[in-house]
Amino acid sequence: VPLEIQLKAYADAVNARLDQLLPPLDATPTELHEAMRYSCLAPGKRLRPALCMASAKAAGGSAESVLDAACAIEMVHCFSLIHDDLPAIDDDDLRRGLPTCHKRFGEAIAILAGDALFSLAFEVLSHSPSTPNPQSSVLGPVLRSVQVLTKATGSDGLVGGEVVDVLSEGVAVDVERLKFIHSRKTGALMAAACRIGAILAGGTDEQVSNLGQFGLALGLAFQIADDILNETADPITIGKAVGTDRDRSKATYTSLFDLKESRRLAEDAAMAAKRALAGLGDKAFLSQLADFAVRRAR
Ligand code: IPE
Ligand code: IPE
Ligand code: MG
Ligand code: MG
Repeated sequence: VPLEIQLKAYADAVNARLDQLLPPLDATPTELHEAMRYSCLAPGKRLRPALCMASAKAAGGSAESVLDAACAIEMVHCFSLIHDDLPAIDDDDLRRGLPTCHKRFGEAIAILAGDALFSLAFEVLSHSPSTPNPQSSVLGPVLRSVQVLTKATGSDGLVGGEVVDVLSEGVAVDVERLKFIHSRKTGALMAAACRIGAILAGGTDEQVSNLGQFGLALGLAFQIADDILNETADPITIGKAVGTDRDRSKATYTSLFDLKESRRLAEDAAMAAKRALAGLGDKAFLSQLADFAVRRAR
């Protein structure tokens, strides 16, 4: 199956399920629920859900069985985008081709919509079906997944990465600090998506660990590409403003390396991601996704 077709099949399933899992528009407070649905149902690529579903398959399970977990991970991602776009952080007006949540609903509702999406994610994940693996942890797969997602989003994960990203504006950073930022603000959630797919599917500790390594390396490739696209992309295609990292003196690969070297480093990371898949089954899609992370135009 070609990558684009498989990605669309996963995204269609995720969009339909998100529509059911998100609070209805007529429930009070309607302003909050409108904002949650606006940001979460906006046309994103749904890569993290796809990583979760494909990782379940690579660990010997089914993609459908982790659909709710995949939606929970997308909710966490959407929370992070809403807060990342706020005036206090990146101050962006456009996201997924639409006005950002705070532009459309105001800052108070945007902040709270992010908070509510983050909560809903864990509620949804806690109800996920799962297949226990008796050789694995004493904790059940759902509780283990909750631990993985909390750790990936916290101060040593996505939020910590966002903090160092903000603190590095206008500061000279080395490549180690850049890797610290990218592996946390972007890599941690992608690695968690892969690990959770494998854990809930009853995968072995080795499968979970290999898929985690894959997700982390893919996340680095993906974020280097995001840095490059912020310099080179067509704003209509990418659905967000470009040139903003340079304007805010962000710590990016393109601020440390030229475009050619940045592309090479992104390709290296994608190659490392593919190497981590060596011992796994059903990995064609994940392998193609590693290449897509680098060559994408949006
Ligand atoms: C954007 O992620 C934020 C980064 C970590 C670079 P995506 O490029 O996956 O955003 P959507 O979900 O497709 O909008
Ligand atoms: C986004 O990083 C990472 C998170 C939202 C956690 P960026 O700020 O570099 O991504 P874009 O360019 O706004 O999507
Ligand atoms: Mg940011
Ligand atoms: Mg941003």
